[in-house]
Amino acid sequence: MKHYTSINDIDNIDSWIKEAKALKKDPLKHKALGANKTLGLLFFNSSLRTRLSTQKAALNLGMDPIVMNVSGDAWGIEFGDGTVMNGNTAEHIKEAAAVVSQYCDIIAVRAFPTLTDKAKDQSEHVLNAFKAYASVPVVNMESATGHPLQGLTDAITISEHKKVSKPKVVLSWAPHLRALPHAVANSFTQAMQKMDVEFVIANPEGYNLSPEITKDTPIYHNQEEAFKDADFVYTKNWSSFDHYGQVKNTDPNWMITKNKLGNAKFMHCLPVRRNVVVEDAVLDTDSSIVIQQANNRTYAAQLVLKKILEHV
Ligand code: CP
Repeated sequence: MKHYTSINDIDNIDSWIKEAKALKKDPLKHKALGANKTLGLLFFNSSLRTRLSTQKAALNLGMDPIVMNVSGDAWGIEFGDGTVMNGNTAEHIKEAAAVVSQYCDIIAVRAFPTLTDKAKDQSEHVLNAFKAYASVPVVNMESATGHPLQGLTDAITISEHKKVSKPKVVLSWAPHLRALPHAVANSFTQAMQKMDVEFVIANPEGYNLSPEITKDTPIYHNQEEAFKDADFVYTKNWSSFDHYGQVKNTDPNWMITKNKLGNAKFMHCLPVRRNVVVEDAVLDTDSSIVIQQANNRTYAAQLVLKKILEHV
């Protein structure tokens, strides 16, 4: 595997899950694989889990991780082709990506969407520029439209916690005050479409994800109906896709409660706003598997890095 930028880079999700579980049992088994190799982690946006778990994954493989907060610490990067750079940007992505490739064997990038320019976001202009101008493999640590390290993590977690061979999994929108990206919901949807699960999405009218992502996945606008017989409820807020990046609905009736959840397990990528997205009575009980989920971020990242290292 050259790059890992999308759930579509997973050729066989069942075998990937099996490999990730093996790594989790013996995380240091491949410590020699990454010796004398450097992972560069470039953050255009904030992170807790991705930043730490991806470094931990690199360390488990014997790699040396180096981290940079690009926004603020680096020169402002220009992505436009042919731009007259007489504004705020001091360095073009053509040089920046090529230069980072001199220091790193793999480059991992986090760059959120604008949520104002749909065409720009859908084109993945930052991630694809790194792919175009870096001479080393690129890993997506959450881009404008996808968070494939999270999606792989979620698939591993469901596989670990399922009690029936084909569980019912619901992706439910929940309210939030701010406009949030679609990336986590997109990658989760793509991961579930690859797994042997009954998968449905619940969101208010006007909040359907891109039809290119949802494809033929059933979409409910009635949360209670969607939650019937659910084994897992994966919750995430996203802003409107049709009215791009807008917050059209903050209905608190969509918050996840213990009563609504029933016997289902609660999942969320974190960070999560308590008593806005989900009530304490869910997070503070065994119904929630968000910490186990966050733990699996390390093994998802480790599997991805291992697969890339085996081919560089
Ligand atoms: N889930 C996730 O990506 O968390 P961070 O934003 O803290 O990295």
